[in-house]
Amino acid sequence: MDLSGKLKRSCEDSLHKAKMAWKAGDSDGAAGHFEAASKAMFKYAEYATSRSMEYARKRKAIEYRDFAKRLRETAAEQARGGKLPPPPSSSIDEDRTPESGSGETERSISETVSQLIHTSTITWDDIGGLEQTKRDIKYTLGLNLAKPPDEVKIATFRNILFYGPPGTGKTLLAAATSNSLKVTTEGQALFFNVKVSSVLSKYFGESSKIISEIYGAARDNSPSVVFLDEFESLTTSRDSGEQSGAERRILSTILAEMDGLSEKGRSDIFVLTIAATNRPWDIDAAVMSRFEKQILIPLPDDDARRAILKIQLLRKGYHVEPEVFDQLIEITKGYSGREIERLCKQATSQMIGELNADLPDVLDSGLKATQAYKVKVRPLSGEDFMQAAAMIRPVTSPAEDQRYRDWSPEPD
Ligand SMILES: Nc1ncnc2c1ncn2[C@@H]1O[C@H](COP(=O)(O)OP(=O)(O)O)[C@@H](O)[C@H]1O
Ligand SMILES: [Mg+2]
Repeated sequence: MDLSGKLKRSCEDSLHKAKMAWKAGDSDGAAGHFEAASKAMFKYAEYATSRSMEYARKRKAIEYRDFAKRLRETAAEQARGGKLPPPPSSSIDEDRTPESGSGETERSISETVSQLIHTSTITWDDIGGLEQTKRDIKYTLGLNLAKPPDEVKIATFRNILFYGPPGTGKTLLAAATSNSLKVTTEGQALFFNVKVSSVLSKYFGESSKIISEIYGAARDNSPSVVFLDEFESLTTSRDSGEQSGAERRILSTILAEMDGLSEKGRSDIFVLTIAATNRPWDIDAAVMSRFEKQILIPLPDDDARRAILKIQLLRKGYHVEPEVFDQLIEITKGYSGREIERLCKQATSQMIGELNADLPDVLDSGLKATQAYKVKVRPLSGEDFMQAAAMIRPVTSPAEDQRYRDWSPEPD
């Protein structure tokens, strides 16, 4: 089935209906159709064949949504015979945002937001270890999405903080969470991946607007996940002094969004905020307490390393003898998931380089010969991994790892 074509048609269809409703002066009807067009457009954007096309489509989606909002806001005025604002252009495959009088800053805000929106393809099976954490997250999602029993109000939570050493799978978990909200094959959940420090540094004065925009789009695409990476860059560090005004503003915007102020009375909307940090001790207690759950994502233990190595080697088709595999679990003690991945890449590419050293000469003898060449592989040896381990060293020391394990979110 051609999903992309279907999404495009559904978008065009909604836009057409929106224009008809607009012409008929039915602002609420038009707003509804523009909202539908926006949703279809967000999904259609994922099928773009270039980044610029993808961003252009996402900008369009945001534009339709904003226009719907404007229509709803001015509905009362229109009811008294006022004029409807002009609708955005309906050609949906333009690569430029048409002039809509929104000005440079607003365009760059929607551009920024559109670059932060992804659908995620990471699944729970791509994450080695962390079994209990995966179960906890699934339980949380389940509790938020399931029907509550009649007349019983169940307290659920929507704000989670992951803390732990770098490279341990925090981003992966957020991506898998987002992916698991995918409702149908076409209803992909969107993943809002926000690196807080880069929003702060690039869009200093505008950062809190960007955050509001992100949460607005996240609510429109409910259920969805907003992932705030490097969260500590927002809050006062115990040893690094004052926050700037922009940091204070963006923090208060985020806290307001996390409290779900704007979702009030909308139990049908579900936006999960996941924040991640390598420096939990830099986050002040008041902010920390806004997260209903703080989860340690530690360096992987023996079982977790076994699971990660399976994903990084066996699942990719490489062959490793069982004794070598057991040895490898020892070699990688103290390594994060990211370092294990790099170690495996180093070992496998070294082995392949060794066996296929004649490839440059083959290329010299022509395209046909090269295409007929079969890349040689062999089982990986303990020696391959020892060599790789000499080059790829873990960055987190045992003492640092212990500091995460000892740190407790409770104010002392
Ligand atoms: N538990 C894990 N299972 C499988 N791969 C992992 C795991 N943890 C880390 N990785 C690998 O390391 C990379 C970086 O992980 P990431 O989730 O970005 O770490 P973090 O966000 O904690 O710094 C991932 O893309 C993945 O390839
Ligand atoms: Mg990360």
